[in-house]
Amino acid sequence: MMRLDKYLSENTGMSRENSRKTIRNGKVVLNGEIIKDPGRHVNDTDIVICDGKTIAASSLEYWILYKPAGYLTARSDPEKSLVMSLIPSVKKDLSPVGRLDEDTEGLLLITNDGMLNHKLAGPKFHVPKKYYVECGQPLPDDAGELLEAPMNFKDFTTAGAVYEKLSDTSCFLTITEGKYHQVKRMMAKIGCEVTYLRRETFGSLTLSGMEPGECRLLTEEEIRELKKE
Ligand code: URA
Repeated sequence: MMRLDKYLSENTGMSRENSRKTIRNGKVVLNGEIIKDPGRHVNDTDIVICDGKTIAASSLEYWILYKPAGYLTARSDPEKSLVMSLIPSVKKDLSPVGRLDEDTEGLLLITNDGMLNHKLAGPKFHVPKKYYVECGQPLPDDAGELLEAPMNFKDFTTAGAVYEKLSDTSCFLTITEGKYHQVKRMMAKIGCEVTYLRRETFGSLTLSGMEPGECRLLTEEEIRELKKE
């Protein structure tokens, strides 16, 4: 249930102010009746017609974005480019699930399914997230032992990670939490500075076939899998 003006702006991309004007001008019909009160409540089963066009009821959207470096995972910032600007949706209630640093690339899930977002980003659910990591120094011989054992930080202890060495200075690291700067902090603990970081997977989702800056809606199958995480 939500206010008619909010419903109209969320489902058409119109500003809240324009929605109110349109409603007050008698252009909006709710279940066959002209409604001039922008505060009137509507729910998903109501039929709303605006200027003769039926407005589709709010639906949940699930986007996968290949985040390029240089974009902030924030809902607003006066100066920086935001990840949300890369999503071609009129839905105003979309939010990223977790965060990637401004200089990190890779897989970011964006949805207006608040329940799923809360679940996947919350501390109880340990969704595996695999990162491709490049470092400024050679990886030490005991990197695997150190990274895979619980690592203590002042705000948390890791639940154990999975390490796969790729070259002297690059590896995959899979973690199940998503603490602030977690991968960079874990690598710093073993004496390595991260020079490039890309998230390759999020649970069952991968970046397969995507280029930086691209996004697409998840398939029904992918959404089902994600809900099982
Ligand atoms: N770990 C980091 O340090 N940065 C990210 O963006 C994601 C995980």
